[in-house]
Amino acid sequence: MKYLDTTTSAIDDLSKQIADLLRNPAISHGLARTLRATAKEVGLYRNHRASQKAWPDGRIDEAPTKVQIGGGAHRIDGFYNIDAVPPADLLWDVREGIPLRDATVRFLFSEHFLEHIDYPRSAKLYASEAYRVLTPGGQVITGVPDAAFVLDQYPAPPQQTAEMIERWYSKRSCLGDINTYLDLINYVFRDQDDDATYNPHYWAYDHEKLVQLFTEAGFSTVEPWDFDPALANTKREWGSVYVIARK
Ligand SMILES: C[S@@+](CC[C@H](N)C(=O)[O-])C[C@H]1O[C@@H](n2cnc3c(N)ncnc32)[C@H](O)[C@@H]1O
Repeated sequence: MKYLDTTTSAIDDLSKQIADLLRNPAISHGLARTLRATAKEVGLYRNHRASQKAWPDGRIDEAPTKVQIGGGAHRIDGFYNIDAVPPADLLWDVREGIPLRDATVRFLFSEHFLEHIDYPRSAKLYASEAYRVLTPGGQVITGVPDAAFVLDQYPAPPQQTAEMIERWYSKRSCLGDINTYLDLINYVFRDQDDDATYNPHYWAYDHEKLVQLFTEAGFSTVEPWDFDPALANTKREWGSVYVIARK
């Protein structure tokens, strides 16, 4: 706890310095990008730290059996929600592990979360933490943007490009910058990493990669999961790949 308190004041100082620097018009574009990314991490760290203070051993008292990770505003009936930002039942940075006890969860669900954490360290940690918290026979469903879906169509005919742009980016500010199909691939793989509203994508996945990741973590089977709108966010159906892994 002593270290947490020391970190708290250092983080508060850092946060103030970043805010001051970002107000300075003389600051370079490159440094401003890095500072904005750092400011975002500081926000996540603050949320995480508050929960860590309540649960210093990294395990919460509750033992939910159905858990959604990184669900954002998407709620699923009967599921306990863990996310780095509100709204969630618990604010926790899952790059630090899953704060649940061993073999207590029957069902773990995430979609469009895994690509937002770094690979290999955090993605592999997530797969091994999923294995740890699941009961024997417990299952984890994972959905991500399907890199194969996008790459298979390269170079896509204009009509297909228009559909992808319409479905994924029509409400975004980047429309004028998607000038070729490769630009679209870049947005799918990285997202708008320089826009504070969006979280960057750190890794691209396909079915094979998901199977490898969860097999390496110890899961006995990893199969395709048929999209079920009772659980999944309907806007994720198009262009995503889902697997279900059983412990
Ligand atoms: C693109 S949103 C997807 C939200 C929802 N699953 C959906 O499909 O609409 C990614 C979510 O993952 C969460 N997330 C990203 N990094 C995280 C982390 N390190 N720990 C916990 N949640 C994280 C974000 O806060 C966000 O809610």
